[in-house]
Amino acid sequence: MPAPTKQSTRTAKRPAAKKAAPKAANKKPAKKSLAFETRRSEIQGTGAFAIKPIRAGQRIVEYVGEQISSDEADRRYDESKMKRHHTFLFTVEEDLVVDGGSNGNEAIYINHSCDPNCEAVIDEKNRIWIYALRPIKVGEELAYDYQFERTGSARLDAQLERFYACRCGSERCRGSLLKKKKIRRRDAVAKK
Ligand SMILES: C[S@@+](CC[C@H](N)C(=O)[O-])C[C@H]1O[C@@H](n2cnc3c(N)ncnc32)[C@H](O)[C@@H]1O
Ligand SMILES: [Zn+2]
Repeated sequence: MPAPTKQSTRTAKRPAAKKAAPKAANKKPAKKSLAFETRRSEIQGTGAFAIKPIRAGQRIVEYVGEQISSDEADRRYDESKMKRHHTFLFTVEEDLVVDGGSNGNEAIYINHSCDPNCEAVIDEKNRIWIYALRPIKVGEELAYDYQFERTGSARLDAQLERFYACRCGSERCRGSLLKKKKIRRRDAVAKK
């Protein structure tokens, strides 16, 4: 059964700091409505679709959920018992995982694409934000590259590849939710 992978993660990238606008006295900040809705997706299950035009670089939504340890994540999502990979986990750092299946929000329905229009960025407070990589039209499905880590053995068998099969449908689909394999050049070490 599949074993050696964990959930998506992106290297922390610090978005440019913005100055907070001065607050009007006695006024509650207005709740921002989402720029997307969730509904059935051709990629998988439920997906997130733009209901407003989204600008390149726009911060769309925070991926929220319960913060748990890696061990707890393994307990909650036993991959050996799944026929196909499915989790709401997002690995922030080595022993910090956000479980969107517990106290999560609509962001957990954003599917993976190998040719994504969004990216997930972890800020300095370990909060996960979904940003648009390019302008997104109304009706387009939002997606980011999950980049599931390959851990353990570098030799992945066919069963594991099937378990993480990608159905994003893009021309650039690499066929897998897993990060691209690192190609080791034999002579790279020899030349040093
Ligand atoms: C955070 S959920 C995304 C929402 C999911 N569509 C749902 O309805 O629950 C992540 C899971 O969605 C599925 N998924 C997302 N993108 C996929 C893709 N490109 N190909 C296959 N499965 C995908 C996988 O099962 C993955 O573990
Ligand atoms: Zn793909």
